[in-house]
Amino acid sequence: MSNQLIKNVLSGELAPIPPIWLMRQAGRYLPEYRALRAKAGSFLDLCYAPEMAAEVTLQPVTRFDMDAAILFSDILVIPHALGQDLRFAEGEGPRLPPIRDRAGIDSLSEDGLHARLAPVYETVTRVRAALPAHKTLIGFAGAPWTVACYMIEGRGSKDFEAAKTMMFGAPDLFDALMQKVEAATIAYLLQQAKHGADVLQLFDSWSGLLDPLSFDRYVTVPAARIRAAVKAQYPDVPMIGFARGAGASLIGYAAKSGMDGFGLDTQVDRKWARAALGPKVCLQGNLDPAALLAGGKALTGHIDAICDALDTGPFIFNLGHGIIKETPPEHVAQLVTHIRARTA
Ligand code: CP3
Repeated sequence: MSNQLIKNVLSGELAPIPPIWLMRQAGRYLPEYRALRAKAGSFLDLCYAPEMAAEVTLQPVTRFDMDAAILFSDILVIPHALGQDLRFAEGEGPRLPPIRDRAGIDSLSEDGLHARLAPVYETVTRVRAALPAHKTLIGFAGAPWTVACYMIEGRGSKDFEAAKTMMFGAPDLFDALMQKVEAATIAYLLQQAKHGADVLQLFDSWSGLLDPLSFDRYVTVPAARIRAAVKAQYPDVPMIGFARGAGASLIGYAAKSGMDGFGLDTQVDRKWARAALGPKVCLQGNLDPAALLAGGKALTGHIDAICDALDTGPFIFNLGHGIIKETPPEHVAQLVTHIRARTA
């Protein structure tokens, strides 16, 4: 037994009140985030400034009494640390010079990986030192498929056509890229665990773009290797797999990835997921971020439906995707109060 609620439910225990954290809980909807972000300059500067990044990580725990802090960083620090340029265009999202050929892949190198990521590790150390012992520090990384999507496309996209074209049309090239990203991801997660992350989440935000066979090969199998590599060195650090849009592929992912908990996106039928994965599996999710934006009775109604469907087994309350930046912070406070009053 751990003194952390989240670690306990990830090991299969039932909790009378579900632990709560929210994806993107530190971010632009919080005035205290916007203030520090303005002081740091760019978003990436903030990610690489340990003192400020630690403060931002702690903000939602301080304001809302969340059960976990999630490390403030981004999934795209991995391509950056491998040597691919990265910038966040204001209001537009990430921009990277697209990798489309062998030369692009060969130019990626793990040599400077830990030097570049050292500020992120320092953030982990600082947050763990400042966080009360019963609160969980969640570290994270993007899964290889999702990170490769941005590396190949060079920017956000609805369908990541260039990435899928390489996957289908140049599988040797694509496999070489995936292999490099996977190795860097493992090294990165091991360092987060070493510096004090209690739990690690793997974000596969674009897994829903893949057909079932490609899903198995590029989502489930890499997740299983990453999980095994972390477990070999840090058996007490559980992992949550978030394969967004997985649909029915969630069953194979849960059976084969070795993850300790599974994030559900907004579209998943919760009762189906609970029945398909079983009463002993820890599930996390899956409030529609738009319901949180809306607030009021709609919000409490959705919260009740989620808790009723999922707290029949180990369960962590969360959103089905990241918080929307227009969300009033009062709605987040309302959410936390409602969940804790419901079952108290
Ligand atoms: O959840 C948290 O509070 C921790 C921090 C975190 C961020 N990004 C901070 C962030 C985490 C876990 C992520 C993950 C991430 N980043 C994912 C996977 C989850 C998902 O949303 O699907 C992805 C795909 C990215 C890549 C990324 N980062 C995009 C596409 C964007 C631009 C979109 C946007 O909202 O502007 C980002 C920027 C980003 N990452 C911001 C934050 C707080 C906003 C940057 C700012 O302050 O200007």
